[in-house]
Amino acid sequence: MMCSLWRGSLLTLTSSLNRRVFQCCRQLGRSYNIASCMPEAVAFQGVSDHSGLYKFSVNESDRFWGAVARQRLSWISPFHTVQNCDFSQGKIKWFEGGKLNVSVNCLDRHVQTCPERVALIWERDEPGTEVKITYRQLLELTCRLGNLLKRQGVRRGDCVTIYMPPCPLAVASMLACARIGAAHNVVFAGFSSEALADRIRDAQSSTVITVNQGVRGGKVVDLKRTVDQAVQNCPSVQQVLVAMRTENTVAMTDRDVPLEEEMMKEDVVCEPVAMDSEDVLFLLYTSGSTGKPKGLVHTQAGYLLYTSLTHRYVFNYHDGDVFGCVADIGWITGHSYIVYGPLCNGGTTVLFESTPVYPNPGRYWEMVERLGINQFYGAPTAIRLLLKYGDEWVQNYNRSSLKTLGSVGEPINTEAWEWYHRVVGDGRCPVVDTWWQTETGGICIAPRPSDPEAEIVPGMAMRPFYGIKPALLDTEGEVLSSNDSTGALCISQAWPGMARTIHNHHQRFTETYFHPYPGFFFTGDGAHRSKEGYYQIVGRLDDVINVSGHRLGTAELEDVVNQCPGVAESAAIGYSHDIKGEGVYVFVVLKKAVMVEEDVLAQQLREMVSRSIAKYACPDFIQVVRCLPKTRSGKIMRRVLRKVVERNTDELGDLSTLDDPDSVHEVISGHRRLCGDGKQQ
Ligand code: WTA
Repeated sequence: MMCSLWRGSLLTLTSSLNRRVFQCCRQLGRSYNIASCMPEAVAFQGVSDHSGLYKFSVNESDRFWGAVARQRLSWISPFHTVQNCDFSQGKIKWFEGGKLNVSVNCLDRHVQTCPERVALIWERDEPGTEVKITYRQLLELTCRLGNLLKRQGVRRGDCVTIYMPPCPLAVASMLACARIGAAHNVVFAGFSSEALADRIRDAQSSTVITVNQGVRGGKVVDLKRTVDQAVQNCPSVQQVLVAMRTENTVAMTDRDVPLEEEMMKEDVVCEPVAMDSEDVLFLLYTSGSTGKPKGLVHTQAGYLLYTSLTHRYVFNYHDGDVFGCVADIGWITGHSYIVYGPLCNGGTTVLFESTPVYPNPGRYWEMVERLGINQFYGAPTAIRLLLKYGDEWVQNYNRSSLKTLGSVGEPINTEAWEWYHRVVGDGRCPVVDTWWQTETGGICIAPRPSDPEAEIVPGMAMRPFYGIKPALLDTEGEVLSSNDSTGALCISQAWPGMARTIHNHHQRFTETYFHPYPGFFFTGDGAHRSKEGYYQIVGRLDDVINVSGHRLGTAELEDVVNQCPGVAESAAIGYSHDIKGEGVYVFVVLKKAVMVEEDVLAQQLREMVSRSIAKYACPDFIQVVRCLPKTRSGKIMRRVLRKVVERNTDELGDLSTLDDPDSVHEVISGHRRLCGDGKQQ
């Protein structure tokens, strides 16, 4: 009785909505139904197509985000205020008054409707050994881990550091933190022990979760050993939970807890904590233009909503699709598009443990065939690498399951874009070049969503997502309002996915993102807006290098190089590299009276950089110079050094402010000696 009543009223409601929609569409002569853009849009007056919906989302942002948040998240108590933001203070608050639990949104509600649906496909290093985990199983793992963390003394508001490769227990660890109200701090398992220790100390973690060993590209990596080294210098750490990825035993101390063994003693039910919308969900460290990486803070509701909405509409993800994002969970891409976005949407998401060339350059596409991947999301650096191996490695496999191809992390050059589209996607899948950052939480500019069939221009992120209002500003801080202009890429109003602060450094947060252009969020990137109004990212405007999609602050690298015995000072510069996007070139000035062979020095420096940061940060070229070109006030002229490594010596510009103009000639001739006259790699 109740049931049929309910069904009856729902039917009347939908048919009246549909009538309204079709009327709208007929009036405008449109051939599509606005509900197919987004069901909530039916209730937005006057909205009948994509561009109307976009305009509504930025002009009526409270109504847009309010409706979407009520519709798509499960709330324990409803919010009373959609947004309360003030860029001048760096104040960003969304959905205040609301209470929810992120793990319930990502797990419990799907277990209620489809417990046996696959949540995770763990694509392990050896092809063909994948493991599938259903929503029911993932909830069980999460609850056991949540209970174990509580037993080990982790409390609401604590921060747990996770140093693991992509695997189901890493995802369960993240969700277990969310379930019990702790924040997580995932550190990319390629970072060195010193980099890990810095991040553990800054986050003040008492608990670290890791694995005995990682397996990647056929090689075993001793991750527990790296953690052991790191925690020696981390007085806050009281315990290390160790999962067993391989059968090899590792030395365990009193501080270490065998994770699987202990979690099996725990109950499969763990009461979720009611979290405030603005409680911290996680910290994620990223490089900036100063020496110290910053711990960006993301909170609960806004982040979850933004990642799930972008996952659904940028990739056109539908129920039953298999979503394959091949990033590592240690980066924001893994957080947003392996874990939170897809799981909030009840999706099936792939955890890729391997490399694009293991056991051969067909790995991605063999996996696409075997797992039936519908959306593939990867990095331009990998596409450029695979392109060099030729089309056969792609064509050997059936890729008919693919519907959308995504790119992230760095600009994708036209050649790579075309190859991705033509060869990988057989010319039938939209390629979405997605621009965003750790700071933005989720995708901000991408070719989709759009009107159906709208054009996609190769190598361009093109269209702002719902709620995103980009602006380009010139060096004077004036807004460039016409098309066909280039400037600093800013965003003029808040969106729910944006970072809230830098852990323990709110002032650095406001100074970095809100002071450069008052009234705007400054991204650190430059962009061009074409005649048609499409956005194209030009690259970083600050001293951040992007090596294979990994951010690296030049100051961070120079701090390490300067600690090398014999080094007086240094300057690190990014140069364009045909696979990595950018490579690292370091100029070094030695202390007086120090004599060292360049090869020996280079070897020492590389070792130090791998030990202090990570392998990807190692310089490709190291050039010893007598002195660095500096202004009379003592500032290193990076602009000049960049021109030298980019071989644009005709465009060195005004050198009159240089303290010692001869230094430039020395730099140029030394560069020729090191790299030859031809084009460098
Ligand atoms: C760059 C990665 C061009 C950009 C999600 C940004 C891009 C930085 C693109 C953020 C793109 C990211 N086209 N450049 N589609 N996507 N970038 O924090 O410079 O690791 O500021 O986040 O990568 O890197 P992050």
